[in-house]
Amino acid sequence: MSLEAYIALLENRRAKLRSELEPIFSQPAEFVCEIGCGHGHFLTAYAAAHRRQVCVGLDLVGERVARARRKRERAALDNLHFFQAEARLFLEVLPASARISTVFILFPDPWPKLRHRKHRIVQALFLDMLAARSTPDCRLYFRTDYRPYYQESCALFQRHPYWSMIEEAWPFEYETVFQQRAGSFFSIVAALQARARDTFFGCPMPLCLSAGNFEG
Ligand SMILES: C[S@@+](CC[C@H](N)C(=O)[O-])C[C@H]1O[C@@H](n2cnc3c(N)ncnc32)[C@H](O)[C@@H]1O
Repeated sequence: MSLEAYIALLENRRAKLRSELEPIFSQPAEFVCEIGCGHGHFLTAYAAAHRRQVCVGLDLVGERVARARRKRERAALDNLHFFQAEARLFLEVLPASARISTVFILFPDPWPKLRHRKHRIVQALFLDMLAARSTPDCRLYFRTDYRPYYQESCALFQRHPYWSMIEEAWPFEYETVFQQRAGSFFSIVAALQARARDTFFGCPMPLCLSAGNFEG
């Protein structure tokens, strides 16, 4: 694919996602976001148990999102929405009045080979983008069964300027498909640091995003 075609494709995806998000975020709103929701088991259970919270699940794969949407319909949950979207693209097009209060990243693809690490979702730039779109008291919940991903994510959170790991209970236990398959797993709970609150809160993302200055 030529560069022009790729840019046009991304622009089409942005426009489609923007129009899908518009009805949900026509009013300022806080929401719970699951990144890489797969077939939506976890978020459907979470949304059923938290009916007053708006819940948004994202996944790259259309067939998984279609199954997740069927679950939502069966459960008749009007506080739950699923979108086929790449997480960074979603953050890019999210309306300014929408803020993430809780993020779940559950059993993300581990990309074990060194040359593939760049595909991991938990990276410095991504954490920067999340910080810019979060509420000041946002919590991030990360879980994996791949020990190196856990260890490297701990190291990343420890040196990240906007997030820090905290000792806090996991808020809602419900086994994901990958959790059912895992023998054991590791969890991280992270909170936004005060510095992120000062930098981002009430400030439009493009002016504040520090990713260009931060070495992950
Ligand atoms: C290993 S599966 C885990 C699914 C589910 N969370 C679970 O625990 O059963 C990872 C999921 O993340 C999705 N994914 C990977 N990268 C993504 C990205 N950048 N944005 C959105 N979804 C992504 C994949 O399509 C896949 O469904």
